[in-house]
Amino acid sequence: MYISRSLLLQTLSKKFSTQIERKLEGKIAVITGAASGIGKETAAKFINHGAKVVIADIQRQLGQETASELGPNATFVPCDVTKESEISDVVDYAVSQHGQLDIMYNNAGIACRTSPSVVDLDLALFDRVMAINVRGVVAGIKHAARVMIPRGHGCILCTASVTGVIGGLAQPTYSTSKSSVIGIVKSVTAQLCKQGIRINCISPFAIPTPFSLDEMKQYFPGVESQDLAKILHSASELKGAYCEPIDVANAALFLASEDAKFISGHNLVIDGGFTSFKSLNLVDQVQ
Ligand SMILES: NC(=O)c1ccc[n+]([C@@H]2O[C@H](COP(=O)([O-])OP(=O)(O)OC[C@H]3O[C@@H](n4cnc5c(N)ncnc54)[C@H](O)[C@@H]3O)[C@@H](O)[C@H]2O)c1
Repeated sequence: MYISRSLLLQTLSKKFSTQIERKLEGKIAVITGAASGIGKETAAKFINHGAKVVIADIQRQLGQETASELGPNATFVPCDVTKESEISDVVDYAVSQHGQLDIMYNNAGIACRTSPSVVDLDLALFDRVMAINVRGVVAGIKHAARVMIPRGHGCILCTASVTGVIGGLAQPTYSTSKSSVIGIVKSVTAQLCKQGIRINCISPFAIPTPFSLDEMKQYFPGVESQDLAKILHSASELKGAYCEPIDVANAALFLASEDAKFISGHNLVIDGGFTSFKSLNLVDQVQ
């Protein structure tokens, strides 16, 4: 059977356009902490779906390299989220360059090795972690809202963690910072709803990124990164699967897109069921 070239091209282009539905066409996003890990994966996902992404990160060289790797729809702006003026500037940069800010993803965060005992809490380190993981998120919400409110719409995302959902998964400093992120999202939803702005957070399970691997190297000195990754993966409760940056990027894409147009004030937990149950293991105890 003869198929003309134009028919073949038409069929292929139809197939291609239905295969790749670009869910963020024309959208402008700022992602903090996007030089690496979850933020970088999300930036790539957003760009693949038609967005332009401003990568806001404290690591200048890595941020530039990431922006070059992700192509012309990624730009890097140096930003330390502990400095309100730098968050304000990155938001203003997005608006001045692209005319609008549609998505603000407050993702930057650090891990911290502190004593699991509350009695030995290092309060100076506590302040530093809160300055990045909590105050940095609050500043991102504040300045995104500043430019989104006049337009009457926008989407704000924040990275929390399973460690903010239940206690005991991390030491108190980090857990407190992440449960605060969930609390902030709940507390500002009421006001932002009235302005047409959706805000949600995402709580991932452990993922081998520089964040978690650097932390684990302190507990397991000399163990190779791929073996540390296997240790993290083995903590998954969901048979045959473990948490990866792409799982968070997919969740962020969903929440940022029209697919989630009526979802706000939500904490989307990505944990393969981990925080939903405890097992009694009675049979094991009897044996
Ligand atoms: N990896 C995990 O297991 C895991 C699980 C749950 C939640 N999280 C959270 O996910 C987020 C991203 O972490 P990741 O795993 O991709 O780690 P990552 O280390 O790969 O990325 C974190 C990024 O944040 C940037 N950053 C750190 N301090 C900053 C500051 N003051 N200003 C601007 N940028 C800063 C870093 O330069 C880095 O690029 C963090 O908020 C983290 O708490 C991670």
